[in-house]
Amino acid sequence: MIDEIPRTLVVGNWKMNGVTVSLDQVDGVVEGLANFMNAEVDVAFCPPATLLAAMSARAAGTPLLTGGQDCHADEAGAHTGDISAAMLSDAGAHFCIVGHSERRADHGESDALVRHKALAAIGAGLVAIICVGESAAERQAGKALDVVMGQLAASVPDDAAARDVVIAYEPVWAIGTGLVPSVDDVAEMHGAMRDALVKRFGEGGNGFRILYGGSVKADNAGDLLNVDNVDGALVGGASLKVIDFLGILATYRQG
Ligand code: PGA
Repeated sequence: MIDEIPRTLVVGNWKMNGVTVSLDQVDGVVEGLANFMNAEVDVAFCPPATLLAAMSARAAGTPLLTGGQDCHADEAGAHTGDISAAMLSDAGAHFCIVGHSERRADHGESDALVRHKALAAIGAGLVAIICVGESAAERQAGKALDVVMGQLAASVPDDAAARDVVIAYEPVWAIGTGLVPSVDDVAEMHGAMRDALVKRFGEGGNGFRILYGGSVKADNAGDLLNVDNVDGALVGGASLKVIDFLGILATYRQG
């Protein structure tokens, strides 16, 4: 669990890219981070599970944090092929992404399951990064706000707190497509999520980090990440190359 007051967070989600992408990335990003030492930004990579322990060992003693991309809702047991939150923690993880739209689509994960996974992650001392986001059809039908508010209400556990839960808004149609919402649409969605969190959790709702994800690149990060209530980014494709990832982090360069 991260004890300090939540700060801006940028997370690289490597997805199922772990053979051609090398752990040398860690050294490159850590070297780059040395130039950002005065910036109030937490930075993490979520590699495939096979690389997590090695990456955590390589990042130990540096500002770079690590996380898993998913966990099982149960603590342990007969679940062939699955990984528990405690196992991620044992491999050095600080975070665990839950409810990514690719898992919701590929594995039929419901809001209720995502909530249970978030609880499992928190129970193992991890920070759960809970993903929400509407499809293209839902946005075209004018239902984006309703869909995301519904996912937020049902995926975030009742006793969530800013120190153990991060929200990531990822419009499904923006993931891996190069398409991004307008700055106004991001402001509207993140503002609505903030209001919903404050309504539900009181003043504590202001502390939750709400990340934007979906085709974040160095050349659009300045616009997307400076929007009110955007507290960082969840980055897929652009986290696979050091230069691209550092280009996004440069948005937060200070001094
Ligand atoms: P992308 O992926 O940056 O490649 O669009 C983001 C994500 O799915 O987390």
